[in-house]
Amino acid sequence: MASRRAAVLARSLSAGLARRQAVCQHSRNPWKEAIRAISTSSPRFQPPPNPATSENPISASPPVPKINKKRTFNVTKADAQPTLSKHHKISFDDKRISLPWEEGKNSTFQHIWLRDHCQCPQCMHPQTKQRTLDTFSLPLNIRPSEVEPKDEGLYVKWHGGHESLYSWEWLHRHSYAPRLEKYPSVQRKLWGKADLEENIPVVKYDDVMKSDNGVAEWTSQIQIYGFCFVDGVPTTPGATKELVERIAHIRHTHYGGFWDFTADLEKKDMAYTNLALPAHTDTTYFTEPCGLQMFHLLEFDGQGGESLLVDGFRAARILREEKPEAFRTLSTIRVPTHASGNEDVSIEPYTPFPVFNHHPVTGELVQVRWNNEDRATMDRWADPEEVEKFYAAIFDWNEVLKRAEGEYREQLVPGRPLIFDNWRVLHGRGSFTGFRRMCGAYVGRDDWQSRLRMTNYGREEILMGL
Ligand SMILES: [Fe+2]
Ligand SMILES: [Zn+2]
Repeated sequence: MASRRAAVLARSLSAGLARRQAVCQHSRNPWKEAIRAISTSSPRFQPPPNPATSENPISASPPVPKINKKRTFNVTKADAQPTLSKHHKISFDDKRISLPWEEGKNSTFQHIWLRDHCQCPQCMHPQTKQRTLDTFSLPLNIRPSEVEPKDEGLYVKWHGGHESLYSWEWLHRHSYAPRLEKYPSVQRKLWGKADLEENIPVVKYDDVMKSDNGVAEWTSQIQIYGFCFVDGVPTTPGATKELVERIAHIRHTHYGGFWDFTADLEKKDMAYTNLALPAHTDTTYFTEPCGLQMFHLLEFDGQGGESLLVDGFRAARILREEKPEAFRTLSTIRVPTHASGNEDVSIEPYTPFPVFNHHPVTGELVQVRWNNEDRATMDRWADPEEVEKFYAAIFDWNEVLKRAEGEYREQLVPGRPLIFDNWRVLHGRGSFTGFRRMCGAYVGRDDWQSRLRMTNYGREEILMGL
C-alpha cells in the first residue's frame, strides 16, 4: 500500500519544477483542493480569536510542500512557478513595493519587512539559516534606491548601499498582502474498522533501517493513518530502541527513556498493571503530550491483552456531526489533568487544555487529549452551570469512542511493533493474565514532524517555506 519511494518522488518532482520554465496555471486551483481536503479530513472548529496568532499568522505558517498526486502523503500547495506580469510594472513608494503577478494578483511588501527578510549571506547565516542582520540597526523608514526585476528574482538596492535579491518563488510563497498560498493541510485518511480490513499500514524493518526513503515511507504512513506496524524487527530491546531512533531521539519522561516493562507496577500507572485500559491518549498531563508512542511486545505467556486503536480525529468528526454542542463543549472547556502516582512527582500542564485542540489560524483539529483516568478535580468553572453540559458532552464522546465500528483490535506479537500518533489515535488494551514483557518509547511531536518533512520533501523545499 501507500506511497513507495515518497522521498525520491518528492525530490525528483521539486527538481523538475525548479528546472521547468515558469508557467502560470489558471486552469486549476490547488487551494480549493486543499480547502476541500481540510473540510473532509479533519473536523474544524472556529476557536475564539487569539490576538497573538490571528494578527501574526506567520508564526503559525508551516512549510508548504509541492503537490504530487501520486503520493499518498499529500500536502497541497500551488505548484506553478510564479512569474511576474509582462504587462504591468513593479512600483514602489515611500512605504511599500508592489509586484504584479502573471496570475493577475498584486503582492505588496513593506520596505522594512523586505529589508529585514534579506536572504543574503550577510543577513542570514548560510549554514544555520538564522538571522544575522541586526534588525535594530535599520532605519524604520528604510526605502529602496533601486528596484529591478531580474531572471532570478527581485533585485533591490537600499539607501545606504545594501543589495538584496529575493527569488520569485520565495516572494510568492511568502506574500502576505494578500496571502497567495493558503496554509497547507495534510490529507489524513480517517479510518474505522472496516477501512482497515485489507489495508493495515505496515512497513518493513529492513527498509527503515537501510535508508531514509524507508523512514519517509514509515513516517508518511504514521501521518496518514495515525499508526503503523513494522514487520521483521528483532525481538530485543536494543533493536527496538535503534528502530525508534531512526525517527528521532527518545523523549524522556518520569517513566524513563526507553521502557522495558512488565505488569509489576514499578511505575505507579495503570499501564504497569494487567487491567483493561479503555481508549485514551497518553500524557494528557503534559503541557505538550508525547507525539509518538511505540510498543513492542517482546514476550507473552498468557491470555488476553489485545491492543485497541481508535482514530480520535474520526471520532471527533462523528461527534461534531451528531452532537455539535458536545463537540463545541469539548473544544472549549478545559480539563485539568495530573500524573501523581509516583512518590516523587506530581505533573500538571501549565494550564488545563480542552479535549479537542484546534489550529488557531485554520481552525483544523490538531490534537485530541483524552484520558478519563487522569482527569484532576474540576473545581474552576467559568460558569458552574456548565457542569451538566460537560458531563453530557463526555458521555456522548465516550459513546462514540466505544462504537465497535471505530475500534481496531490486534494482538501484538514479537517482531511487529506498533507506533502511533498520540495526538490523534487513542489506544487501549484488554485485560490479560500471565507474563507479558513490553518495550517501547515516546518521541516528541516536533521531532517526528521534522523527520517526516525532511525525509519526504528534503531540506531545500522545507527551507523555502520558512
Ligand atoms: Fe497508554
Ligand atoms: Zn542582506
